[in-house]
Parts: sequence; structure tokens; C-alpha cells
Amino acid sequence: MNEQPTTITVIGCGYVGVTTAAILSHCGYMVYAIEVNPERLNILKQGRSFFYEVGIDPLIAHSTQRGSLVFTDNYTEALSKSSVVFSCVGTPDNPDGSSNLSYVFTAAKQAAEHIAQDAIFVQKSTVPVGTGQKVERIFKDAGATISYVSNPEFLRESTAVIDTLWFDRIIAGSNDTSAAERILDIYRVVEKQRDTIASLAKLETPENPPATQYIHTTQSSAELIKVSANAFLALKISFANSIAKLADAAGANVVEVMEAVGADRRIGRAFLNAGRGYGGGCFPKDVSGLIRSAQDFGVSMEIMQAADDVNNAMPGYILTKAQTILPQKSWKDVECTVLGLAFKSGTSDTRKSPAIAIANLLRRNGARVKAYDPQAIEEATHDLSPEIELCTDLAVSLQNSSCVCIATDWSEFQNIDWAKTNVQYVIDAMNCLEPASLPNNITYIGIGR
Ligand code: UGA
Repeated sequence: MNEQPTTITVIGCGYVGVTTAAILSHCGYMVYAIEVNPERLNILKQGRSFFYEVGIDPLIAHSTQRGSLVFTDNYTEALSKSSVVFSCVGTPDNPDGSSNLSYVFTAAKQAAEHIAQDAIFVQKSTVPVGTGQKVERIFKDAGATISYVSNPEFLRESTAVIDTLWFDRIIAGSNDTSAAERILDIYRVVEKQRDTIASLAKLETPENPPATQYIHTTQSSAELIKVSANAFLALKISFANSIAKLADAAGANVVEVMEAVGADRRIGRAFLNAGRGYGGGCFPKDVSGLIRSAQDFGVSMEIMQAADDVNNAMPGYILTKAQTILPQKSWKDVECTVLGLAFKSGTSDTRKSPAIAIANLLRRNGARVKAYDPQAIEEATHDLSPEIELCTDLAVSLQNSSCVCIATDWSEFQNIDWAKTNVQYVIDAMNCLEPASLPNNITYIGIGR
């Protein structure tokens, strides 16, 4: 192992930045985490996270108390002391689907002004292939001598801490072999510390931990690895949803189909769950970003456009299917409760959530809509139609509703005592219920089953 840096700066305190900073601060490093949003910074400085993510708060609280993790908006202090700088800023999408790299370039410009000579600048943000060269140019133009390493992140929201401790692979893309190895070494330290950190976070260690791979590759390959991985997972989901529609039409069961298809080790069972489609801050924008960046290279990605089209159509497909089963064949004045608003369970994140699309579409079709989510009510408010009634209590949300749509698979929805409700129709947009477990007077409407 190479000589280890003692001070690290993480720029950007979203899911990736906060998780990275919190974990590295338990691995013997002094970590500065830069956040420019004053409200978020204020919460982080209190030793907790501004988003819901299991296990993260104890890690932040412990490190901020003992001083190995400092949240700040001061680039000068943090960067001048750091030999490694991780850039973890957001890359949202532009209206045309391309990646908005303004935060990436701003972070690089700020870093270039203050970064220590010969530090390693590590790009963790998801960026289109070719971005690293532009970022390197920013440092060069500012007269800063750095090594650049593309180190894409693969953690998932809702399992961010466990994913960061037990990783399938770490990618370090750089022309500078020594810099790439130094970054890989940081993760070797994380690997050594992971049991201790998991126990501090009160998280159980995974039953079948992945075999870890440390991969040194080129900068552009590293950039492409990240977007290709997300794009392929999105493809699997849209494939499962396409088969689900065929299963609906032909009377087959997509759950059984995907169990058996996924039993082929060449295919694998993961990400073949049909339902209301993918959302969140990653898949939708990474798919559109890949399509756009390929166009810039003169390459057309019809396959990803198809995945995107299938995905966007799922909320409409589900509500049309359910509508044909309702006795009045219309949503007009149907009392419907949407359970779950987050883009997936285990998070308060509602970015591009298909659950919100379902709720809004139900309302547009004339239904009287109530919505409940155990964590995401606050974040959902901005994107939901103001005519939708938000409920902070599950039981209250179910009162008087004849129809329920499960739009995010929170585990508490498994425990609903349906017999105590007036619900007649359950639309299981996540295929997460066992139809046979429902009382006989309830009509179950799944996706492809
Ligand atoms: C995804 C990737 O899984 C991570 O590896 C990656 O690091 C991250 O994006 C990122 O680029 O930052 P995430 O968006 O947190 O992680 O969540 P996923 O668990 O991948 O789920 C994405 C969406 O797909 C959710 O809406 C989920 O409900 C949906 N999904 C997932 C399905 O509809 N079907 C499935 O079978 C699996």
C-alpha cells in the first residue's frame, strides 16, 4: 500500500458526498465536507443528515463530535490542507435530457483556486464520457498541478452505507497509475474497517457479501462504466415491464416468468421486477444523459430511448389497466389512496418518482386522491397536484377509500389489515403483495400477474 493521505475534502453533501465523508472519517482520515446550501449545512453541522438514510446519522454524529468530520462552506481552509479531494456534486439533467455539468465545473473552478500542489482530484459525480478532460483543463488553466482520477460511485439510496462498505468493485480511471493506486488504497482501508463502521451505524453485515474487485482503468472507460451500469439496470427494468404487458395480455404471471428467467446465471434475477418503473435522481437522467452524450459522438442509442419510453408509459399503463376493471370504467370521483411517494422504499427522495406521476395522473383522470408516505411527504409536496390530500397517518389515509394504489413498496404496507378497511380494489404497482393474502371481497390488480 502507498503512503496514505491524512486529510481529505469532499465537495458536495448529497447522498454520495455525505456517505463518503462520513465513512472516510471513520477510517483514520480527517475529512472536510463542503456544502454551500446554508440550510443543509446547518443541519449537517448539528451532527445529522438532512435526508433519510438508514445508518448515516450515527456515523455523522460520532465523527463530528470527535472532530474527524467537519462540515463547512469554506473551500480555502479545507482544500489547502487536503491531499485528496472528492468531487460529489449533483449532475441533474437539462430540459433536453443532457447532463447539467455546471456544478461539476463550478466545483472544479473553486477547487483549482485553493487546492494544494500535487493533490489528487477525484471525480465521483456521474458525468458523461469525456468530461474528465474538460475538468483537467480547468485546473491547467488555473495553474494548479493535480492528478485526476475518475472514481464513479455505485451506492444506492436506502442502502448507501452498506453499499459503500461492501462494494462489488472500485473503479479508478486515470492516466496516473500512482494516483489511481492511492485512491484504490483508500477503499482498501474502508474494506478493513467495514465491520466496525457497520456496527457503529447499527447495520447488519450482508449475508452474502460480494467479492470485491479493485479496477484501474482509463479515465474515459471509468466514466463510461458508471453510465453503462445504470443504463443496463434501467434496460432490465424496462424489459421486465415490456414482458409484464405481454403477460397481462396472454394471462401469464411476470413474477414467475422473471424468477425462472433470472435463474439463468447469465441473466440474473436482480432488477427484473416489473411495476411502475424506475425513478430517482439517477436512472432517468443517466439514461437521457447517455442518449445525448452518444449523440455528441455521432452514435445513436435507440435501445436506451426505447427503455425510457417504456418507463415513462408505465404509470399510464397501470391506471388504464385498473380502470377497465373498475365497475364504472372511469376514475371520475373514485376515492383512491396512493401509498408511497418516494422513488423507492427506504428513502425520502421523490425526484422523478413514478409514484408521484401515478398520484397526479389519478387526479387528472378525476379521482379524489389521498396520499401517504412514511418519509417522503415533505419532499413530495412540491411535485404533487395541490388537489391531492396528503396524510401523515396510514390509517387515516385509508379511511373511506374504495381503491388503493401501492406505488412504493414500504414494508409497513405488508401489514395492513385490509379486512378493517372499506377498500375494494388494490392496485399493486410494485407487485409487492401476495394476492392470496387479501380478503376475498378485494379485487387485486397487479402488473403482469
Ligand atoms: C442507482 C444504482 O442502482 C446505483 O448503483 C447507482 O450508484 C445510483 O443509481 C447512482 O447512480 O447514484 P438508486 O437510484 O439509488 O441507485 O436506486 P435503485 O435501487 O437502483 O432503484 C432505481 C429505481 O429502479 C427505483 O425507482 C426502483 O423502484 C426501480 N426498480 C429497481 C424497479 O422498478 N425494478 C427493479 O427490479 C429494481
